[in-house]
Amino acid sequence: MQLMQGQTVIITGAGRGIGASAARLFAQHGANVVVSDLDAEPANDVALDIREQGGEAIAVPGDVNDPDFAPRLMEECINKYGILNVLINNAGYTWDGMIHKMTDKQWDAMQDVHAKAPFRLIRAASPYMRDAAKQEMANGEHPVPRCIINVSSTSGLHGNAGQANYSLAKMGIVGLTKTLAKEWGPFGIRSNAIAYGYIETRLTQDKAQGESIQVDGEDIPLGIPDHLRGMVNMLIPLGRSGTAEEAAGAMVLLASPLAAYINGHCLEVTGGLGI
Ligand SMILES: NC(=O)c1ccc[n+]([C@@H]2O[C@H](COP(=O)([O-])OP(=O)(O)OC[C@H]3O[C@@H](n4cnc5c(N)ncnc54)[C@H](O)[C@@H]3O)[C@@H](O)[C@H]2O)c1
Repeated sequence: MQLMQGQTVIITGAGRGIGASAARLFAQHGANVVVSDLDAEPANDVALDIREQGGEAIAVPGDVNDPDFAPRLMEECINKYGILNVLINNAGYTWDGMIHKMTDKQWDAMQDVHAKAPFRLIRAASPYMRDAAKQEMANGEHPVPRCIINVSSTSGLHGNAGQANYSLAKMGIVGLTKTLAKEWGPFGIRSNAIAYGYIETRLTQDKAQGESIQVDGEDIPLGIPDHLRGMVNMLIPLGRSGTAEEAAGAMVLLASPLAAYINGHCLEVTGGLGI
């Protein structure tokens, strides 16, 4: 069964983790995939891998915080595939600190990547999504399937010590999603969010592995201290963290025709954490 046959999907942060798994799963379901990431090499590798498996993908590397990036990403997508059906705002990272120690830079960085960048991408997509659907309706046609998926977090919905900056942005994206559901719903464009709990990726792996992301020349360490990783598992009714493939499944589900009447929803994909 191919749920996304012939549709075109942009996924930001698709060079690794949840985004990379989603790129592969969308391709398996027949979609053309635009694999976008800050890091060119993993983005190119994912796109190449998809093509080698018989799927269709291009890589468009770039920084979602660059104000010129969103229009360029849309242009490259439209030049290659002629249409944009699904935009997934997934790119991001964490930069934790307790409130009393958090710097303005740390605060702003999270709002930029998790809230402002999705807003800019959605705005840049509007000619190819909102306006295109409006034109189809004016022509008396039923608009083709289109939707936005924004990635949130249980840290946004429930708060998380050490993540005031991230929590605000991840709750904000839910507000943006619901607003968009109301603004673009009349054009048949659905908008939904997914709040992930604890998914095994670079963001949640053992901090001792020493992974980091470079932001304005600064190395931001990524990961969670190992003793905390074990503790979270005990709070999850399914008893374990989720895989990137399981997380990707929720994206395909929400983008697919099976979710044709789901709009303005925030789906918690957590194994039951926090219920
Ligand atoms: N892993 C989890 O448990 C979890 C839980 C809740 C929410 N999330 C969210 O899921 C999304 C994906 O995270 P992940 O866990 O797959 O992490 P990840 O680090 O494996 O992947 C994130 C990708 O985003 C890219 N990225 C970061 N900043 C970028 C920028 N400025 N421009 C373009 N690309 C950029 C990175 O290069 C990376 O490839 C993030 O928004 C994250 O906040 C993850």
